[in-house]
Amino acid sequence: MILHLEGVPNPKQQRFFLAEARHVAYGGARGGGKSWAMRRKFVLLAFRYAGLNLLLLRRTLPELNENHVLPLQRELAGAVPYHAAQRAFLFPNGSRIKLGYCDREADVFQYQGQEYDVIGLEEATHFTESQMQFLLTCNRSVRSDFTPRAYYTCNPGGVGHAWVKRLFIDRDYRNSERAEDYVFIPARVTDNPVLLRNDPDYLKTLENLPEHLRKAYLNGSWDVLEGQYFREFDRSVHVVSPTRLPVEWKRFRAMDWGYNDPCCVLWFAVGPEGKIFVYRELYLRRTLSSEIARRVKELSQGERIAYTVASPDAWQKRGLAGAEGESIADVFSKNGVPLIPADNARVPGWQRVREALAPGADGTPELAIFDTCRNLIRTLPTLTFDAHDAEDVSDLSEDHAPEALRYGLMSRPRPARAKDPAAVRRYDPLSRASDPYPGYVGL
Ligand SMILES: Nc1ncnc2c1ncn2[C@@H]1O[C@H](COP(=O)(O)OP(=O)(O)OP(=O)(O)O)[C@@H](O)[C@H]1O
Ligand SMILES: [Mg+2]
Repeated sequence: MILHLEGVPNPKQQRFFLAEARHVAYGGARGGGKSWAMRRKFVLLAFRYAGLNLLLLRRTLPELNENHVLPLQRELAGAVPYHAAQRAFLFPNGSRIKLGYCDREADVFQYQGQEYDVIGLEEATHFTESQMQFLLTCNRSVRSDFTPRAYYTCNPGGVGHAWVKRLFIDRDYRNSERAEDYVFIPARVTDNPVLLRNDPDYLKTLENLPEHLRKAYLNGSWDVLEGQYFREFDRSVHVVSPTRLPVEWKRFRAMDWGYNDPCCVLWFAVGPEGKIFVYRELYLRRTLSSEIARRVKELSQGERIAYTVASPDAWQKRGLAGAEGESIADVFSKNGVPLIPADNARVPGWQRVREALAPGADGTPELAIFDTCRNLIRTLPTLTFDAHDAEDVSDLSEDHAPEALRYGLMSRPRPARAKDPAAVRRYDPLSRASDPYPGYVGL
């Protein structure tokens, strides 16, 4: 079999091909040839190691088809058949490149229990950190001639900007992560002579972008976060060390229900000037509602909780609660945690969060979050704008903790604003002599 693979790798692509680290990222600016290199590397690995199992992922199905299935079909035509039902290229030597997507947060579970020697995340910044973490649990190998590897291509911006930047740019490693396992190859459009030759205007297109996008897409700068929803979130301002909160402060809870998606419960306390502290979080995946209710009750022992608001889906009747026909709210109520439906108006709710983050009259914000609420702190700055509604949060974001925050804040009255005395008029509608706006015709 002879395959005519078009193109010769440019020097950066060669570095990508040769990298042997456990995690290899190729990213930065647009158009450098990252996707080409990812596809080609996968094909080379599949031919080189018989029986290799590879998974190439993109966040959504249309992107996957457009960027990988069609180009690979062209590149492998006549040599490697594509099995549409499996969505996989089946190589004559037993290797397999499976193409996948994880549109919704919970779509990663379709890969549970599977084993892939190689995983590739195309546009890795489009994946949430939890998706990446879960997918890596499937990146393992029993072979003696190959150690499992993950490849990432990425541009700055997107819901996964923060974790890609932490691992590959800031190189800030936690727990068992080891610096030597991570390699980053910076991409520039100028690395790709094929593109510059075929489409000379592409460079001009990048140069003409607004400054923050130009920095990201032309220079590959990771310090701009295009599309971040809560730019006002600042760890040094909004995150505080836990302190003992007076028992007499009003306390309440808010929950964003989820089973496959994480379920998040937040605990709130209201201080004297209306300052709101988020002092505890529970963030659990695939946990029965009865178990969550039990944990919530246990954690709240000794505290007087005024109420618990929850996402409206907790009132749907479904089987996942462990008992057919019961709603999540029924199960919580039976287990001693009565729920009330949260105000689910999205845009006003996010606006309420924004107000709580903004500095108040004394220069400090209404909201403070204990540093123990790790998932809220991790995900709040990663929310991005919805592509179709400039006022809403994208539903591709990992938004469970921020949703619980939104429900909690919406259950509280807005802080009283100092009134402008000049704007307040005395008006007695029963007295003809009383005219709040003298001179207005008709009053
Ligand atoms: N070594 C190469 N030989 C031939 N063509 C190439 C090579 N590298 C890239 N190309 C072509 O250049 C174009 C841009 O490459 P590619 O899509 O891989 O860039 P990218 O970095 O993934 O871009 P984006 O940032 O937009 O995702 C594509 O048409 C691709 O086929
Ligand atoms: Mg690409």
